Amino acid sequence: MSRFANDFVFGVAASAYQIEGAWDEDGKGESIWDRFVREPGRILDGATGDVACDHYHRFPEDVALMASAGIPAYSLTTAWTRIIPDGLGPVEPRGIAFYDRLVDELLENGITPYVTLYHWDLPQGLQDRGGWANRDTVDAFARYADVMSAALGDRVKHWKTHNEPWVASFIGYRDGSFAPGHTDFSEALTAAHHILLSHGRAVPVIRANVPDGEVGIVVDCRPSVPATDSAEDVAAQQHFDGFRNRWFFDPIFGKGYPSDMVEAYRERGRFDAEQPPFVLPGDLDEIAVPIDFIGINYYTALEVAAGAEETEDTGIAPGPNPPDGYTEMGWPIVPSALTAFLKRIHDDYGATDIRVTENGASYSDGPGPDRAVHDERRIEYLRVHIQAVADAIELGVPVTGYFVWSILDNFEWALGYSQRFGLVWVDHETGERVPKDSLAWYGEVIATRSPD
Ligand code: FCB
Repeated sequence: MSRFANDFVFGVAASAYQIEGAWDEDGKGESIWDRFVREPGRILDGATGDVACDHYHRFPEDVALMASAGIPAYSLTTAWTRIIPDGLGPVEPRGIAFYDRLVDELLENGITPYVTLYHWDLPQGLQDRGGWANRDTVDAFARYADVMSAALGDRVKHWKTHNEPWVASFIGYRDGSFAPGHTDFSEALTAAHHILLSHGRAVPVIRANVPDGEVGIVVDCRPSVPATDSAEDVAAQQHFDGFRNRWFFDPIFGKGYPSDMVEAYRERGRFDAEQPPFVLPGDLDEIAVPIDFIGINYYTALEVAAGAEETEDTGIAPGPNPPDGYTEMGWPIVPSALTAFLKRIHDDYGATDIRVTENGASYSDGPGPDRAVHDERRIEYLRVHIQAVADAIELGVPVTGYFVWSILDNFEWALGYSQRFGLVWVDHETGERVPKDSLAWYGEVIATRSPD
């Protein structure tokens, strides 16, 4: 039986656009997601986050649900457009007042707030100037980080600059299925660089405002294996890993951009110079600013075959690497890949404090005749992944926290409300909340410090 140390932090996570609603209330500005969801065909069933879970108005109920299960930590994200509505102009005090109330409510309920500054909802005013492809967005972000950390830093001690820079840049600017919906690989590379640079620039700002706090960044990871041991598949997997993981982890940990990928991108015409032209002198040092912890979000792992080295559509097929089933996202369940990836981050980068900042599963189980939600499959998914974290700790990897995505069923981006990741079921018509069995189960895990 695995037991987690008393200082290991268990929590839950959610993000502003996915739950808050109140999309134009109290002076909030338009974000790229507010704009994107209104473009025909972008979101399944034409769904929007205009109301979402109405957390903006119902947050005391949501905090009470967390408290009822004994959840000690909540990772929230702040909406930049509530604070600086157009990204550049004056600060909106009503936006700050909302997060003041939320943080106070959490603290009164004994829940430690963790705050992430960017979870993809860029002010449209900045997008109109090029968004993350414009280097000026870096300073706009540092200003926003300054305002937020100055406002909340007396009570919030745990800060994260960005959530998933790969998704923000590549799904937003290359794939086009997330806001702002562009499809330009070179622009995505530039955006990714500016996001990383804005992390580097914001960290010292947050530290100055919250000297007794800690700051890190959250990187999404996609472990993978070659589909076969052919030289082509092995090379494709190496490329995929560089594209998806190393391009982000390497510069954050001071290794600069991986040279094999710089060469591959140059050969593929992603930039027309020896080195990426968007990298200016000093940038890599700034990105490599020391951090207190690295967060990784983990959901699934892939098998990569030649030709698929820059895609995500190859699940681990039955064969040499059969998954333990699939979630309703269609994602293969591969808990051992989480253990291995945590170990790798420690081994390759010397990370001394690693947290799983998101992990969870989409299953659509809803209330039965007894009004209870028996989401056994989610419990099993979480159980094997918490065990995978315990396995990493057993191997000597310094993992210090684990956060379930998500507390509530919420707006799952381009998939609208079709996917349910919550520990709490939400009726998206009425806003009613129904705790799932997994919420009570997770409370037990926390109380006993064991998933068994
Ligand atoms: C992560 C996102 C989060 C949610 C989960 C399912 O990539 O950070 O907002 O969509 O996936």
